[in-house]
Amino acid sequence: MGKIILTGDRPTGRLHIGHYVGSLRRRVELQNSGEYEKILIMIADAQALTDNIENPEKVRQNVIEVALDYMSAGLDPAKSTLFVQSQIAELCELTFYYMDLVTVSRLQRNPTVKSEIQMRNFEASIPVGFFTYPISQAADITAFKATTVPVGEDQLPMLEQAREIVRKFNSVYAPVLVEPEALLPENQACLRLPGTDGKAKMSKSLGNCIYLSDSEKEVKTKIMAMYTDPMHLQVSDPGHLEGNTVFTYLDAFCRPEHFERYMPDHQSLDELKEHYQRGGLGDVKVKKFLLSIIQEALEPIRQRRAEYEKDIPEVYRILKKGSDEAREIAAQTLSEVKAAMKINYFDDEELIKAQALRYQQK
Ligand code: TRP
Repeated sequence: MGKIILTGDRPTGRLHIGHYVGSLRRRVELQNSGEYEKILIMIADAQALTDNIENPEKVRQNVIEVALDYMSAGLDPAKSTLFVQSQIAELCELTFYYMDLVTVSRLQRNPTVKSEIQMRNFEASIPVGFFTYPISQAADITAFKATTVPVGEDQLPMLEQAREIVRKFNSVYAPVLVEPEALLPENQACLRLPGTDGKAKMSKSLGNCIYLSDSEKEVKTKIMAMYTDPMHLQVSDPGHLEGNTVFTYLDAFCRPEHFERYMPDHQSLDELKEHYQRGGLGDVKVKKFLLSIIQEALEPIRQRRAEYEKDIPEVYRILKKGSDEAREIAAQTLSEVKAAMKINYFDDEELIKAQALRYQQK
C-alpha cells in the first residue's frame, strides 16, 4: 500500500507564516512530489470547538479563511482532498470506541494538553471534549490509514497517543489500523517561528504575526518594526544573533539564490551572520533583505488568494466534495473496525447462520 498523508489545522484564525514554514510549505512540496497515494488536509472545526464553546461564529468564519489560506499556499484540490472534520460523522464513532483503549491518567500526562489547560485557565473545569481531543485526533489520523502526518513539534504527543491506540487496537481486536509517523519541519527555525516582537509564540492576541493574507504594505510595516538585537545601536557595533528574530526568520526563509537576487555584496547566510556579529552591518539592510525574500514567497500566495476570493461558493463546493470523498474512506475504515470489534451484526452472514444453527441444535 502507498503512503497516505493526513494533517490539518484548527480554524481559529487566519494562517500565518509560522504555519507556512512549520507545515504548509512542506505539505505543498509533498503534494507535488507524487510520492503519496493520497493526501488529505482537514479543517479541524470540531476540535476547534472543544475550546471555543462560546465562539461557534468564530470557528465558522475561519473555516473559509483557512480553506483560502490552504489553496493560496498551493494546496491544490485536484491533488489533495480538502475537507471539514465535523462533516465526517464516522470520526465521532471511532473516537467513542478508541476511548475504551485509553486511560484517564494517560490523557493527563499529555504535555501539549497540559500546557493548553494552563493557558486557557481550564484547571478547575476542563471540558471533557477538550480533555479527550487527543483521542479524537487519533480517529482523524487512523480513519484514513494515514502513514505520514506532517505537523509541528507541539503535535508529537498526539502522534504518540495515536500510535499507542493503533497498537492496542490491533493487538486486542485485529490488525486493521496503521501506525502513523510524524514528519517534522527540516530546520530548527521552522519548528517554531517566533513572533515579530521576538516573543516565543506567534499569536493573534499579541499582534505579532505576519499572515499569509497580509498585504504587501502590512508585511513591510511589520518587518521594518521587527525585534532585533537591542544592543546593536549603531551600524558599527557588533550585533548578536541569539534571539534576533530577523536572523531566525532568515534561517527559515533564506536560500542561497536570494543573495544573488537581493544582496549581491554577500554570498551566504553564514557570511552575513559573521558580518553582523563583527559590526558594520545595519539592521535596516538586513530587514530589507528579509522583506524581499518574504514578499517573494507571499506574492504568489496573495495572487492566488485574490482569484479564489472571487468565487467563494466554489470554495465551499470544493470543501463539500472533499468531505464527501473523505467520508467514504472513513466509512470503509469504520466498517473494518466494527468487524474487528465484533459489532457488525447485520452484515455478517456467517454470524447469523452460526447463531441459527446453534438454536436449531438445541
Ligand atoms: N491539533 C491540530 C492543531 O491544533 C489540528 C488537528 C486535528 C490535526 N486533527 C489532526 C493535525 C490530525 C494533524 C492530524 O492544529
